[in-house]
Amino acid sequence: MSPARHTRTRVTVRVPAKVNLELVVGPARADGYHDLSTVFHAVGLYDEVTVTRAPQWSVQVRGPYADRVPTGPENLALAAAHRLAQACPGGEPVAISIDKEIPVAGGMAGGSADAAATLVACDLLWGMDAERDLLDAVAAGLGSDVNFALTGGTAIGSGRGERVAPVLGRGRYHWVFAVSDEGLSTGDVFAECDRLRAGEQIPAPEPSPVMMTALRSGEPAALAAAMSNDLQEAAFSLRPQLREVLAAGLEYGALGGVVSGSGPTVAFLVSGPEGALDLAVALTASGAAHDVKRAVGPVHGAHLVETPRVS
Ligand code: C5P
Repeated sequence: MSPARHTRTRVTVRVPAKVNLELVVGPARADGYHDLSTVFHAVGLYDEVTVTRAPQWSVQVRGPYADRVPTGPENLALAAAHRLAQACPGGEPVAISIDKEIPVAGGMAGGSADAAATLVACDLLWGMDAERDLLDAVAAGLGSDVNFALTGGTAIGSGRGERVAPVLGRGRYHWVFAVSDEGLSTGDVFAECDRLRAGEQIPAPEPSPVMMTALRSGEPAALAAAMSNDLQEAAFSLRPQLREVLAAGLEYGALGGVVSGSGPTVAFLVSGPEGALDLAVALTASGAAHDVKRAVGPVHGAHLVETPRVS
């Protein structure tokens, strides 16, 4: 172990949000989850998680969405620190501070991102140097999107989302996100999807060839045409105004748009930075979205930062 590892009293890890470029939902499983095939894509909208040695476990959240994040035992970052401490000897209490930019309950895996960042940060703080397999096993037990937040980039997710394999793709994509002021519960959206598809024969999920071809091409227009989300109709059903948000973004010049994961954030793909700015301005001015954010993808998964955004 390096001396630096022993002397760390505080570690900050930055972690990105995700959008699902494709989300194919299979039939409900006996355990209540759904097998799925998804293409995860990490975008440069970040939370920063700082862990500091402390006499007792705690979590605090800062940023525009802070008041919507629970700080009790149900907080996924706190759960992540506890689970890693149980899995590896040497885990001692930490104070977790989350500087939040990723929308809460927005379909962008913000809670999962914080959990992934906490695993990486505690691993470094405690000098565990845990095997990636161990981090992946703990991550999978915390939620379906945590493994991808460790990995980042563009990747295919299978199982319930926790099995992640990087995709070789080209291109750097510019995104605009229309954020709602009220989140949606992932469980509720999956349940609504089941209700809408009741009686249908649902095939085993697999990645679509058109999406794989689009990713290989690196062409934003091809990717825009290939984007799809089986949870979109369910999100529309629970939040009908999202249809109007999607229509507004397309009308204002987006190449394509899709509900992000279980929503309610709507992700728009544009041709470049100018297009992103134009669309963000138009969406903001129209009042179609509560908040509008821009980001580029793909970006790296959870990673150490030496200079935190906040002290
Ligand atoms: O895994 P995570 O805690 O993020 O999932 C939240 C909820 O979303 C689950 O309790 C389940 O109802 C639903 N879900 C699902 N199938 C998946 C992922 C999530 O039904 N593959």
